Amino acid sequence: MKITALVSLAAAVLAFTDASPITRRPHLTPGRGFSIPLARNPDFKHNTKAQLAKMGARYNNRAASTGRVSLTNVQHDLEYYGSVSVGTPAQVVKLNFDTGSSDIWFPSSTCTATACTKHARFDTAKSSTFQKDGRKWKISYGDKSSASGILGSDIVNIGGVSVRQTIGLATAESAQFARSPEDGLFGLGFSSIESVKGVKTFLDSAITAGALSQPVVSVFLPSYRRNGGVGGEYLFGGIDSTKYTGELTYVNVSDKGYWQIPIDDITYNGKSLGQASQGIVDTGTTLVIISTAAAAAVHKGIQGSKFNPATDTEDAYWTVPCSLQKSTDNVGFTLGGKTFNIPLADVAYEDVGDNTGVCYSGIQGGQDDLYILGDVFIKNYYCVFDQGATPRVGIAPLKY
Ligand SMILES: *[C@@H]1O[C@H](CO)[C@@H](O)[C@H](O)[C@H]1NC(C)=O
Repeated sequence: MKITALVSLAAAVLAFTDASPITRRPHLTPGRGFSIPLARNPDFKHNTKAQLAKMGARYNNRAASTGRVSLTNVQHDLEYYGSVSVGTPAQVVKLNFDTGSSDIWFPSSTCTATACTKHARFDTAKSSTFQKDGRKWKISYGDKSSASGILGSDIVNIGGVSVRQTIGLATAESAQFARSPEDGLFGLGFSSIESVKGVKTFLDSAITAGALSQPVVSVFLPSYRRNGGVGGEYLFGGIDSTKYTGELTYVNVSDKGYWQIPIDDITYNGKSLGQASQGIVDTGTTLVIISTAAAAAVHKGIQGSKFNPATDTEDAYWTVPCSLQKSTDNVGFTLGGKTFNIPLADVAYEDVGDNTGVCYSGIQGGQDDLYILGDVFIKNYYCVFDQGATPRVGIAPLKY
């Protein structure tokens, strides 16, 4: 396990600085390096029957509503996925919800690649509501994983909210996905970064159909450290004020593709490090990834941190002492005039596995243009992705 964890992080670190033009951003591979998919939450149950019943009701009377999807936390907050019903009768696929991309895709029953046969595959012939599209589709992620196939459309049901939606049916997938505990991805970015021009995201489809009470999706990513990693959910169409404390701080989106916002500064124990940038709030990336210079500034304050330079097989990465898992010091990101702290307990992300008390840092460098506020940030804050007239991200401290 230690070796595979090392491989997974090393591979991820490699992916951080990938600058290929087709890649959208560094993206820590879902499930890479883990041969056995582990669900962190043993109490999680796919409530398929209830979902089906709800779907029938909603599809017939399309009232604006909200839909909740429970999340399974994979490994130590490596990634999160939930169940989505597609077609009639519903076929259930487990998807990784990703605000850093926009396509929805999962394997087609016609795909015979290992990455497909190890997962739920959608059989279009068994769905009475499936409609052909026929356009070719392909997506590539920052870690060099990719999938391709054709587009189709069907009824997609998220916790009771059902809309007709264009979906990518994968007929080929790169090998990384074979080890992934989920079947595919559910993009929550804007329509402008759909792989196929003109395709609308689920959020846009649902908003246009009047299916959501509010044009928002709200996210609670739980943390293994804070609450055992349980209870996570995406709430489509609503904001659950029982999940956070105080008020949401809203930050206007500066560019509608990713959920991009200005980062006014980074702080260490409240002191400015003089680092401003644009950044994206990305549920599909595990760590926080900032510029090389900003990462050096952050780690300068962390006693025992170490920069591991690039080698032939690995890109550079930072490690920190695992003893920080008890530290109350923090690294802050200033957004919308407020500073949102990440405790060093989360910066000590994962033991490198060589029994020396060294951990991979949850904050890495190499991302010199758009910083990425990934799950290491989001698992401390309730985040509301608001696609109203002024798109914005609402952020407030989690109650859990
Ligand atoms: C966010 O956008 C709204 C609407 O355009 C504007 O009224 C508000 O001032 C903006 N907020 C900031 C902090 O720029």
